[in-house]
Amino acid sequence: KRHFNAAQDLDPPDIVALLDLADVFVELNRRTNKKLDLLKGRTQVNLFFENSTRTMSSFELAGKRLGADTVNMNPRTSSVAKGETLIDTAVTLNAMKPDLLVVRHSASGAAQLLGQKVGCSVVNAGDGQHQHPTQALLDMLSIRRAFGHVDSLTVAICGDVAHSRVARSNVILLNAMGANVRLVGPPTLIPGDADEWGVEVYHDMRAGITGANVVMMLRLQLERMDGAFIPSTREYFRYFGLDREKLAVAAPDVRVMHPGPMNRGVEIDSEVADDLSISLIQDQVEMGVAARMAVLASLAARLETDR
Ligand code: CP
Repeated sequence: KRHFNAAQDLDPPDIVALLDLADVFVELNRRTNKKLDLLKGRTQVNLFFENSTRTMSSFELAGKRLGADTVNMNPRTSSVAKGETLIDTAVTLNAMKPDLLVVRHSASGAAQLLGQKVGCSVVNAGDGQHQHPTQALLDMLSIRRAFGHVDSLTVAICGDVAHSRVARSNVILLNAMGANVRLVGPPTLIPGDADEWGVEVYHDMRAGITGANVVMMLRLQLERMDGAFIPSTREYFRYFGLDREKLAVAAPDVRVMHPGPMNRGVEIDSEVADDLSISLIQDQVEMGVAARMAVLASLAARLETDR
């Protein structure tokens, strides 16, 4: 495929191939000399219409470590601020003949739309509440490296599922690889059609994480709620925040994950987040570079065969 748009575009052999390649890049990234030339001569443009720390910097590092020329476009200082549309912006950048366009936008379907308008490969770095496929890939890489496998693990994805593209992409990849997926959260934050996602739904946090191997916490995305979040964040933490006391019912080998950025004391207690014996949160950040290198390298290989 020319683009990397959504988790459902990947079948299990694709996922395993990307994870295996990412494992190689993890080792490369731990060396002093981290550079390869797989993307030498290629141009990668990162176009982020929403804020990002992890995804944009890791895509930039991933491209650079593979030898690409990378450009970061900031919509706030570009002609978007003068009213230029998403499509006009992408078509304009495409005229400069990049090979890869990495896009984050608040509108669901933005990356897919741009994929129909430009000649280069489009990588979805998060579109609205829809998909964040490279996040799910890096999460799976973190899980596979921690447990040695993904199949048969029980993964509880907890919190604001309704507004989470991370949750949607993770459910699809985890189901494809044979994990048992649970969604845990108050009814207001679990999508109405979640029963059709191939998951178990829990509205009680302790019941939902009982016996779980992985507890993946989600950020409460207040910016997507238009002020409609009724309980206080203190009340939310009491019932759905992850602390040591609640975590005690999970499996003895439990690992805790969070895609970041974290709201400490809202969805997760610092004592849990910072305990490196159980927390994979920093591993997730490290795996983000390797997983994105794997995605870019696989797209570049496709570009070569299309020549
Ligand atoms: N997890 C994630 O997408 O983080 P950023 O918003 O910092 O990129």
